[in-house]
Amino acid sequence: MKGIVFTEFLDMVEKEHGYELVDQMINECDLSSGGVYTSVGTYDHAEIVSLVSWLSNYSGVSVPELLRQYGKYLHNTFVANYGHFFDQEKDCFSFLESIDRYIHIEVQKIYPDAELPTFETKRINENSLEMIYRSKRKMSDFAEGLIEKSLDHYKEKASIEKHFIEEDGSIVKFVITKSQI
Ligand code: HEM
Repeated sequence: MKGIVFTEFLDMVEKEHGYELVDQMINECDLSSGGVYTSVGTYDHAEIVSLVSWLSNYSGVSVPELLRQYGKYLHNTFVANYGHFFDQEKDCFSFLESIDRYIHIEVQKIYPDAELPTFETKRINENSLEMIYRSKRKMSDFAEGLIEKSLDHYKEKASIEKHFIEEDGSIVKFVITKSQI
């Protein structure tokens, strides 16, 4: 998993709970990297699982909810650092369709060792988009936070339904339906 996923997660925790808690979390997690991350480095996915689980124990907020919150947080970083990906698309559905077709392909070119999910998208009708998430890392809650923030970005309102196709969370279907005005 790329370092940016870790550095931004630690930033989020620091903003919410302060630096001392970040320090305590890193010390207690027994991470093989020692908790020292650079944004271009690559680290074991298990480390993010340890960090999020630790924070869940500490805060009483569930792991899925923390991942969703983190997706929303990281979205701001993506808008700040990769604004052109958003500017290129006229609405949220076009943007979401462009992740698998374009954005993550560009990400893979820059970071050949990035471990990215796949998204299979299908327009059900004018107001509904189906997105099937597939990844061994089972981070669909993180995807959900990113989808929610993408809707906000384009100032669109929609409901997000989530169906587990594989019980372990490696295949999850989202159905995003725009609210009728
Ligand atoms: C400008 C937009 C985006 C950029 C630049 C971007 C880039 C990245 C990067 C660098 C990673 C880390 C890969 C690794 O750790 O090896 C990642 C992971 C991921 N991205 Fe994106 N992404 C963007 C938008 C989105 C959106 C909107 C979604 C949600 C639908 C999404 C879903 C995910 C998920 C779920 C992962 C975690 C890895 C996994 O589940 O296998 N991304 N992305």
